[in-house]
Parts: sequence; C-alpha cells; structure tokens
Amino acid sequence: MRPVARSAIATGLVLLVSQSGAAAEADQGAQLAATCASCHRLDGGGTGIPSIIGLGEERLTNALLAYRASESSNHIMHAIALSLSDEEIASVARYVAKQGSNPR
Ligand code: HEC
Repeated sequence: MRPVARSAIATGLVLLVSQSGAAAEADQGAQLAATCASCHRLDGGGTGIPSIIGLGEERLTNALLAYRASESSNHIMHAIALSLSDEEIASVARYVAKQGSNPR
C-alpha cells in the first residue's frame, strides 16, 4: 500500500473513534426525544399538553426525576420516566434543551 493511502486511512480511523462518543450520546437523545414528540410537540407549539421546549436542561432533568419518583403527579409521565435510566434522562434533557436555543 502507498504511504499516502495508508496515512489517509489512519486519519479516518482516528476521526471516527474520537467522534463516536459524542455522536452516540446525541443520537440517544434524539431517539428518546422522538418518543416524547408523540405527545409534546418539539417546535414549542401545541395545546393541552405543556410544551417542553424552553424549559432548560436542569428543569427537564428535575421534572423527569420527580415524575419517576412519584406516581401522584402524573400517571403518564410517571410511566414514561420509569422506563428511563439516569443516563437516558440526562441525554434526552440535554437534547430537548438544545432544541429551544434556536431563535425562531
Ligand atoms: C403519552 C404522552 C406523553 C409522552 C410520550 C411524554 N409526555 Fe411528558 N407530559 C405528558 C403530559 C400529559 C404532561 C402534563 C402532566 C402534568 O400535568 O403534570 C407531561 C409533562 C411533562 C413535563 C413537565 C412540563 C412542565 O411544564 O412542567 C416534562 C418536563 C415532560 N413531560 C417531559 C417529557 C419527556 C422528556 C418525554 C420523552 C422522554 C415525555 N415527556 C413524553 C405526556 C407525555
């Protein structure tokens, strides 16, 4: 193999490895948010069900942890939050919080 081709392949591998961690996290957040979007519209609109856009990462995380801990606040959100691990709550909160940061 020619040296140029070999170093190009090596560079590609390094990029792939260094990006996969952050990308996997963002993918998980996006996938989870897609399940939220069947009830909560992610464009900030909607009636009845409160919008979760613009709440911020900390507020989202705390709300999900509270829903997971207690059935009394809301049965639907309790069931949803129960299915999420700490890590999943963190990544979906991070993803959804970012959706609000784009000025419309
Ligand atoms: C089956 C429908 C449904 C799905 C799916 C759903 N939610 Fe909800 N969510 C609701 C309803 C209904 C409420 C209002 C509950 C209440 O009045 O306490 C709510 C409330 C919330 C709140 C509180 C909003 C506020 O203003 O305090 C947050 C945060 C939230 N949901 C986040 C999520 C996230 C994140 C997901 C995805 C992992 C999700 N929800 C998926 C129905 C849903």
